[in-house]
Amino acid sequence: MKIIQTPEAMRVWSDEQRRQGHSIGFAPTMGALHEGHLSLIRAAARENDVAVASIFVNPAQFAPTEDYDQYPRPFDDDIAKIEAEHVHTVYAPTAADMYAEGYATYVHVEKVSQGLCGASRPHFFRGVATVVAKLFNAVKPHRAYFGQKDAQQCAVIRRMVRDLDMGVEIVEMPIVREPDGLAMSSRNEYLTAEDREKALCLSRAVRCGETVLRNGERNARVVIDAVRDLMREVTVDYVEVVDAETMAPVEIVERPVTLVVAAFLPTARLIDNIKFDPGEQQT
Ligand code: PAJ
Repeated sequence: MKIIQTPEAMRVWSDEQRRQGHSIGFAPTMGALHEGHLSLIRAAARENDVAVASIFVNPAQFAPTEDYDQYPRPFDDDIAKIEAEHVHTVYAPTAADMYAEGYATYVHVEKVSQGLCGASRPHFFRGVATVVAKLFNAVKPHRAYFGQKDAQQCAVIRRMVRDLDMGVEIVEMPIVREPDGLAMSSRNEYLTAEDREKALCLSRAVRCGETVLRNGERNARVVIDAVRDLMREVTVDYVEVVDAETMAPVEIVERPVTLVVAAFLPTARLIDNIKFDPGEQQT
């Protein structure tokens, strides 16, 4: 296993791969790896000549009140899981490697990063866009793999890559769920048994919303009300039907949309979503 720590060393490795004509697949993560992360790492390995996974808990995307210190960091287990996928290059910089003394440059993606998670976590997407831009500069991937679980994050990254001419193909992978439907998340570890049970209402609610849409409902308000009705056990942050690309709320569903939900439980804030394309509606 090759663990690369500095941006300089990462660039040397990537330049050499590109010189040899190899395509580079990249799966950025914050570690505490579960099957959701591994699905991205697997796809990166399968679809490219070489693959890199990164592990970096990015301080720039946590507010001072959030769980940066508490965030799980089972580094050795993570390395073993990546190696089991036959991926042998991990980029794992330290916070000091990424944000040197005097650091002052941030990427701000307007509009798409403003509502939903951007409203309750105003610092968040600036931190994500900045670190992903930095990771891309070091890893120089041809393709980068992100999870639909974080649908707004995918939309923000796609916008940034287009706007800044980064030339990286963004591949969005489906949500990997626990057998009972809960979307896998490193933060599920924080849930008490009681909250874990309540958390199931998010996946039930989005599945119900999907059924309502499949049954032909096109008024977003009606879908939202049906979904909210199933989330009475938790404190709802948002339930919205948004344009899949811009993440702007829609009133009538007539193009691809994402039904997004977020809720606060006493021990964690959780998100879930489903995508729906009225054009692909089966009869
Ligand atoms: P992290 O939460 O570790 O997630 C890394 C990647 O795994 C993201 O693209 C996320 O969408 C994906 N992922 C998480 N849970 C998933 C699931 N249940 N099914 C499918 N994919 C899933 O997202 C981040 O880290 C950070 O913001 C990062 C992009 C690494 C920048 O710091």
